[in-house]
Amino acid sequence: MNAPRLHKFLEERSGFFIFGVLFVSMLGGLAQIVPSLFDGELARPAENLRPLGALELAGREVYIRESCALCHTQQVRPFVAEVRRYGAHSRAEEFVYDRPFLWGSKRTGPDLHRVGGKYSDEWHRAHLINPRAVVPSSIMPAYPWLENTPADSGAVQSLLFALEKINGAREKGGALRAGEELRGKTEMDALIAYLQSLGKSAEGRRR
Ligand code: HEC
Repeated sequence: MNAPRLHKFLEERSGFFIFGVLFVSMLGGLAQIVPSLFDGELARPAENLRPLGALELAGREVYIRESCALCHTQQVRPFVAEVRRYGAHSRAEEFVYDRPFLWGSKRTGPDLHRVGGKYSDEWHRAHLINPRAVVPSSIMPAYPWLENTPADSGAVQSLLFALEKINGAREKGGALRAGEELRGKTEMDALIAYLQSLGKSAEGRRR
């Protein structure tokens, strides 16, 4: 059957056509999903990946609450341009402790998966209080109140208890020390600690 006739054949049988589209999509879905179910990488943490500590976790909660993920992805794709700009591409084994995932799907700002260690804590502080102070053309919103808001140790403690159960790997007692670790810390300190923790699991890998 040549192409125009095949086209006509499909166009005249919409039920069959819909089934065909679904079937082909299903094959694509299976090709992506099935191998990942049998690949241990999804459950095995990367070599130097560690669960976040109380301060970093408090920062992650701020990151979620302030919707940073709406403008920033945390997934470097395996393309030359991305690897040159951001560093080693992201791998499933680096997200084993992430609940929920913060991959994001929109890059109004740059990807942040490898931002840890790229700038000093002071740079992040100045940038979050007023992005224009360090990047004059920035359109990122300012978050000055984080500097005056104490980090919430109660919420983090419950979260640590839950994550200790789910992840298993976290050293025991971390949740009990959360209050101590967050004493006197602001949400700004916590968010910066979280940002500095990002991407460390790629250290030692070829860029
Ligand atoms: C409206 C979109 C938007 C939101 C929301 C947003 N950002 Fe940004 N962000 C940007 C843009 C655009 C840039 C690039 C310009 C700059 O550096 O300020 C950026 C840059 C950054 C950088 C520097 C990255 C690099 O590699 O140079 C960091 C770190 C950052 N943002 C963190 C955050 C955090 C944390 C939050 C949430 C508290 C946040 N952003 C919320 C748009 C956004």
